[in-house]
Amino acid sequence: MPNDRLIAIIEDFEKTLLELVQRHRITHEEYRKATEVVLASVQAGEGSILFDVFLEAETLDVESAHRKGSPLGLLGPFYLPGAPRLEPPNMMPRRPDEKGDTLIFRGAVRSTTGEALPFAEFDMWQADADGNYSGIMPGIPAWNLRGRFGTAVDGTFEVTTIQPAPYPVPGDGPIGGVLRELGRHLYRPAHLHLQVTAPDHEVLTTQLYFADGDYLATDAANAVRDGLIAPVELDGDVRIATYDFVLEPHTAR
Ligand SMILES: [Fe+2]
Repeated sequence: MPNDRLIAIIEDFEKTLLELVQRHRITHEEYRKATEVVLASVQAGEGSILFDVFLEAETLDVESAHRKGSPLGLLGPFYLPGAPRLEPPNMMPRRPDEKGDTLIFRGAVRSTTGEALPFAEFDMWQADADGNYSGIMPGIPAWNLRGRFGTAVDGTFEVTTIQPAPYPVPGDGPIGGVLRELGRHLYRPAHLHLQVTAPDHEVLTTQLYFADGDYLATDAANAVRDGLIAPVELDGDVRIATYDFVLEPHTAR
């Protein structure tokens, strides 16, 4: 970042905070309490969560505004590189007794030029029906509900998995306390995490939500965007979610 931009942003940040103190007549005691929350979050190892919950998604909107492709989403803290490569019919690794409704996720990948992308690759990871991730929560088999797969010759894809559950951001520490003080719940709506790559295109890291999901309007991380909500159809007990991804060519900007 150029030094003059850094100076301008920090000076504006300082001015904004000073104006906030005056506007709300913030007392010294209130100031101390606010700074203690930030310090306690850092000491509890929740420093990044504090800022990610309140601010991170907004910076992705700034990036997305310059793009014609699908909106960017949060990577989140639970990505693990090296998930198993699946082959059609692309069944996500699951326990024999995996809980949750069957979810078929399908769609297509194309470029902003409209061209179908037959060599696109997905890296997908998700929570289970209890809201937990393999490799993070002990007791879940390695790579459960994590997999990589590709598009077909016409740029379409389909993967079969289970419906993930909403899950809370950590509630025991200072962040949970802040959200509760604000009268907010701690939950993130159910979502799929995806990284989509294709030759000569920029990597798309995003999260997809479900049109019939809970907490869409009150996501604890404030990360849901209209362009990231997949419609869902029901076929008996099977849920079918569809989404078409649009990738940005390397030369777009
Ligand atoms: Fe997640």
